[in-house]
Amino acid sequence: MSSTKDRATRNKVVLGLQWGDEGKGKVIDLLTSGIDVVVRCQGGANAGHTVVVGGRKTVLHLLPSGVLHTAARCIIGNGVVVDPQALCAEVDELSANGCDPTARLAVSDRAHLVLPCHKALDAANEARKGDAKVGTTLRGIGPAYADKVARTGLRCGELRDMPAFTTRLRAHLVQVNGLLNALGAAALDVEQAVAQVLPACRRVAQLVSDTADELQHAAEAGKAFLFEGAQGVLLDIDYGTYPFVTSSNTGVGGVICGSGLSHRELGEVIGVVKAYSTRVGSGPFPVELTGAVHGAKGEEIRKRGAEFGATTGRPRRCGWLDLVAVRFACRLNGVDAIALTKLDILTGERELPVCVAYELDGRRIDTIPARIEDLARATPVYEVLPGWSESLAPCRTRASMPPAARGYVDFIERQLRVPIRWIGTGPGRDEIIER
Ligand code: GDP
Ligand code: IMO
Ligand code: MG
Repeated sequence: MSSTKDRATRNKVVLGLQWGDEGKGKVIDLLTSGIDVVVRCQGGANAGHTVVVGGRKTVLHLLPSGVLHTAARCIIGNGVVVDPQALCAEVDELSANGCDPTARLAVSDRAHLVLPCHKALDAANEARKGDAKVGTTLRGIGPAYADKVARTGLRCGELRDMPAFTTRLRAHLVQVNGLLNALGAAALDVEQAVAQVLPACRRVAQLVSDTADELQHAAEAGKAFLFEGAQGVLLDIDYGTYPFVTSSNTGVGGVICGSGLSHRELGEVIGVVKAYSTRVGSGPFPVELTGAVHGAKGEEIRKRGAEFGATTGRPRRCGWLDLVAVRFACRLNGVDAIALTKLDILTGERELPVCVAYELDGRRIDTIPARIEDLARATPVYEVLPGWSESLAPCRTRASMPPAARGYVDFIERQLRVPIRWIGTGPGRDEIIER
């Protein structure tokens, strides 16, 4: 039996501390070295986690980002919503690139399925909302989680009895067609949808097992875990900028509920923070660089940082670093250390404004207000730090970074009171400064 201290140093949780796309994929890939089991705990194929190894880019959606380490077991936990077609496509793509993960992959029998009707409902809900749409990834995430909570969902474990599953699938599709009609959307052809999804369901059935039980045994055997967060804390269903959020708990709570392991197994909590802010989809974003005065700067950062969605290709909204948001995320999740990514993208900026507080109705606040109307009215209070022009590419230590870049990192640490242990200087696995 391993001690609490062992687990604390061995196991890791990696979370996004902003609005997603912080660079979790790269950090997870890096930290998977020496890990026995990588676990996805929430979200679904809405995630797009990029890993760049030896110049080759891989984008993972449902498979854990540690999958490129061929010694690591990969678990898709019960908190994930699994789109069978998306999962098979991803496995096939990886296999075609010489990294077939099938033999070391398991999908929880308690995980809920994302079916064609969920994707159709996602699109219909968004269309009905018009200008008030969430700007979802249209991957069926909200409707699949809605079915889970309403106790009407279909779970992966049901794939073990394919005839019974097929009957339930048909009934579900018929029921959702009623909803689609009510929303003024076209109904799905039930038989066509069944034919479309069943081959993938049969393949996924081969991967389904009681992953909670497997993980509990692995914990007893002293295996090292990495828990992979998807999305970011500001997209959390409870603490994010509701209703412009995703439909799962994106923090440590989601890890516990979505893996089948207790809080004792979590180990260190590592937060991934991009050196500036981005958001894709709708919703208030106080630091957004937009409009006649600031839009050009936002566009410049988007181009330099290649800020286009890894899942949908949509342009990401860009802004300066928002420490109100990151501080909120750190406190909520007990973050032990930070990986600061994409610092290289800020090279060349003469000045770097950092949002340290918001002003709301003439008052200074230092946390995220719960009401979306308040957040929409909040304006950022900036401290302006000096920029640098030297490339970070040759820097291998923090001491060798340009003084202003060091100053930027030190400032963030002081503000958050959380150590920055990694600094990203490029997309590649090796482009990182580790302390
Ligand atoms: P995730 O969803 O959090 O895994 O992040 P995404 O993969 O959606 O977006 C992050 C993007 O930034 C990807 O294209 C990464 O390859 C890239 N990236 C990650 N870290 C760095 C870094 O330190 N510097 C640069 N220039 N790019 C990075
Ligand atoms: P990774 O894991 C950035 C956003 C969508 C939308 C909202 C709800 O790559 O960081 P959903 O499809 O989940 O119902 O959409 O959440 N969103 C993400 N934004 N990165 C992600 O994942 C996201 N996953 C969902 O753009 O605003
Ligand atoms: Mg992403």
